[in-house]
Amino acid sequence: MAELSVVVVAHDPEQRTMLQVLVDGTNVARTVHSCANFPLAASDPVMRRIQSANADVVLVDIPADSPLPALRAIELLHQVIPGPALFAIGSLNQPQVMVSAMRGGARDFIERPTTTTTLLEAFVRLSTAQRKQQEEVRGKIFTVVNAKGGSGSTTVAVNLALTLQAAHGNTSLVDLAPLGHCALHLNVKPLFTVADAMRNLHRLDSSLLESFMTRHGGGLQLLAGPGMPQVTEPANTEYAKLLDVLIGHFRYVVVDASTRMDAITRLATTLSQTVLMVAHADVACLWSAARVQQYLSENGNPDKIQLVLNRFRKIPGFSEADAEAAAGAKLAAKIPNQYFAVSMAIDRGIPLVQQTHTEIARAFIGLAARLTENELDVKRKAWSLFKIS
Ligand SMILES: Nc1ncnc2c1ncn2[C@@H]1O[C@H](COP(=O)(O)OP(=O)(O)OP(=O)(O)O)[C@@H](O)[C@H]1O
Ligand SMILES: [Mg+2]
Repeated sequence: MAELSVVVVAHDPEQRTMLQVLVDGTNVARTVHSCANFPLAASDPVMRRIQSANADVVLVDIPADSPLPALRAIELLHQVIPGPALFAIGSLNQPQVMVSAMRGGARDFIERPTTTTTLLEAFVRLSTAQRKQQEEVRGKIFTVVNAKGGSGSTTVAVNLALTLQAAHGNTSLVDLAPLGHCALHLNVKPLFTVADAMRNLHRLDSSLLESFMTRHGGGLQLLAGPGMPQVTEPANTEYAKLLDVLIGHFRYVVVDASTRMDAITRLATTLSQTVLMVAHADVACLWSAARVQQYLSENGNPDKIQLVLNRFRKIPGFSEADAEAAAGAKLAAKIPNQYFAVSMAIDRGIPLVQQTHTEIARAFIGLAARLTENELDVKRKAWSLFKIS
């Protein structure tokens, strides 16, 4: 299936037909619309037709003998329809035309006579750049929430965040629990908390945000939770703004919602790629899990809520499928029951995943890999796109 949709704008009928054939011949793009006339004004009907094609790319052919209308069209398209990438097609023997096209807003300049290979290279350049931009600028949120108080949300959030930081870097942990415990688990002493970021929301950018965060040894950045329960809480929209600044800065944002069951946890759920609902494999916890799953999926996609069975040990006659059916959520991970190791880790402030090669560290590495596996799919897809040529 074609990846990119393309509009071809070329005055010369032969050139127009040829460009369509070349675009479709790349196998990664297809022509969705073609125009013979260059738009002259924003109100030009051609402009509306190009806009409604909703394409990824607009190819503008610049005739060597009269380049001006095409150059003006590039400028106009760039100003009025900023969505699609503009590719100019022209002669490399006319450097002035090339410069004007790029200044006017063309993203790429493709040599005439054009070939399938040069077009394919330009399409691959575009999709690679767009993917990089998405990956770099918009991070992903993973929210961790308890099915029932004390099930291990903070243990899971802290160790997941550390594992993501070790594997990919640029990770933050945000403590939205009513009383923040993440700093204790990490043995750090925050000077600021989420409340400080909230108070400065009107001027919060990446650098101010980082100044409110506490850096853990391996590079993980913590936005700590309150040291005392709060009477007044910021509004939903303010939390949305905070999370937006966070994903503009970090590749991964792990939210510890612990036992918080309010609009903020629902908001975090809506904005999250995956919500990890932590439960023990006992009747009361799985009963709660089913209700929490229902509560959190009321305004969104229920599949994003997944189950983490903490303090897991095999129970004869009770399978993983039974746990999934009881909780109404797919199983994302099983964290072994190791009370001594976990309690010592919290008491000493040396998180579990820093004690490498343990069964529990392997469980978190598996969880982090599962949560980021789609990104590898994207990379594989890009690789196959390169191989087509
Ligand atoms: N995998 C585990 N094996 C054994 N004990 C565990 C495990 N995970 C957590 N615990 C125990 O459970 C306790 C609570 O863990 P944690 O603080 O992560 O829970 P929580 O769900 O965040 O609690 P809260 O509801 O107060 O926010 C820990 O002090 C630890 O002793
Ligand atoms: Mg907690």
